[in-house]
Amino acid sequence: MIFKCKSIKSYTNKAETKFIVCFEDTELENLDLTLGSELALDTEIVSKIKFTLSGDDFKGKNGQLQTINLFRDQCPKNIILIGLGTKEAFTLDKLRKNIAKAVKESVKLKSKSMDLNIESLGSLLDLHETTRTICEAVVMANYKFDKYKSDKKASTLEDFNIIYAEENEVENINKGINEGTVLGQANLLARFLCNEPSNVLGPVELAIEAKKAGEESGFEVEVFDEASIKELKMEAFLAVSRASAKPPTLIVMRYHGNPDNKEEIIGLVGKGLTYDSGGLSIKPTASMVSMKSDMGGAAAVIGAMSAITKLKAKVNVIAVIAACENMIDGNGYRPGDIIGSMGGKTIEVLNTDAEGRLTLVDAVHYIIEKEHATKVLDIATLTGAVLSALGSTATGVLSNNDFFYNMLEQASKICDEKIWRLPTFEDYKELIKSDVADLKNTGGPNAGTIGAGLFIGEFVQDKPWLHLDIAGTSWSNKDSDYESKGATGAGARLLYHLIKQLED
Ligand code: BES
Ligand code: ZN
Ligand code: ZN
Repeated sequence: MIFKCKSIKSYTNKAETKFIVCFEDTELENLDLTLGSELALDTEIVSKIKFTLSGDDFKGKNGQLQTINLFRDQCPKNIILIGLGTKEAFTLDKLRKNIAKAVKESVKLKSKSMDLNIESLGSLLDLHETTRTICEAVVMANYKFDKYKSDKKASTLEDFNIIYAEENEVENINKGINEGTVLGQANLLARFLCNEPSNVLGPVELAIEAKKAGEESGFEVEVFDEASIKELKMEAFLAVSRASAKPPTLIVMRYHGNPDNKEEIIGLVGKGLTYDSGGLSIKPTASMVSMKSDMGGAAAVIGAMSAITKLKAKVNVIAVIAACENMIDGNGYRPGDIIGSMGGKTIEVLNTDAEGRLTLVDAVHYIIEKEHATKVLDIATLTGAVLSALGSTATGVLSNNDFFYNMLEQASKICDEKIWRLPTFEDYKELIKSDVADLKNTGGPNAGTIGAGLFIGEFVQDKPWLHLDIAGTSWSNKDSDYESKGATGAGARLLYHLIKQLED
């Protein structure tokens, strides 16, 4: 798909679908001005739009869409009016959702080209942010996981034109177009990886995908095999992987966007369980079917790395994924085992289904000790409990550092990937104290998300740390605005915006 920015002065109607954004509180006369010169000649279209607007159905309310089919061969073939609500309550989030809905509608009409005049938006919000949001929405709306369907319905969209009056804003607009496209693609990469079934995407294949992403966008990827992981003494990670016929991989991605700054390396750690059967603490079938997505954290990290690199963020970032499968075998780890970890702490395994934290603590220790990360963020589909607490709306977050958390909150507001901070009171540490080892891997049914997070917190030393539990937000049960049924790609855009705040 190609995005283009065109000045209205040189624009002729070549798109099959013309989007027109409408505010609830805009008088018809003002809208006339918005339609402006590009439509003034086409009296047929203008009168049809006016007729539609004078009716009772379409009022420009937030979320309202109205298609006007012109039943002709000439462009535009159809008009889609997009309601954005009142100007006062207008936000980029509303724009993102409504543009995505409109694009889906237009694709249903089999449109190959679409255009959108953003003159009326330019005065309300920053142009660069506006165009970034639009392009992000267009890319994200054009995804469906149908790789394994024999009758694939590829999206028809080929061209998307953004029209704006002032030629001198082209650079700003193009910057937004580029950023939005890259961010949309990063999100789709995360969705694609997460939607791939476990028979296709195991730990080795995930490493290959990371290498591919690295080659495409320009970050370095090093993959450690099982023997090297043993040498690193990642005993907790290896215990989880042991029952699988597929060997584990440790995937390390490095991006040095600010080589002058030797002091700061941001460490990203993504949970990379390419399948989680629960192990001997086996999951019921209904809970197991979606466990191909237990590498949603890894997918987010790979997506974020590709965006960070493509958009040349001025930061040094290292990402680590301890990729493996949690399976069942005579050789597997058991509830009751006491295992070691790379950091040296011993862990009593009470439940083999609480495996994510075991892989993560070795990855966290590695990223601090071997890659010298000065700040650590881990992202994981870690607990069913976060789904009970926050549903699929918000990611649960734990942190030991208000400053770092506030940055994540800012990032969250930019991309509308919602987060909610959970408490880390000392009292909760009881959840992970073991009678027979340094730690235990589960504290029972209460405060499950906090217990899991604090377990990882035991390995972050004194580093500013953010823990993101995306077990609820990484998966969607239905298609909606820019989301598609299945993986949501949660975290990819969020991590990019967080990293951007850490630029100096
Ligand atoms: N991968 C699961 C968490 C999960 C649940 C992700 C639902 C996505 C959707 C994780 O490894 C797990 O099984 N956690 C257990 C922990 C428990 C045994 C302490 C859980 O949440 O039930
Ligand atoms: Zn599990
Ligand atoms: Zn898991």
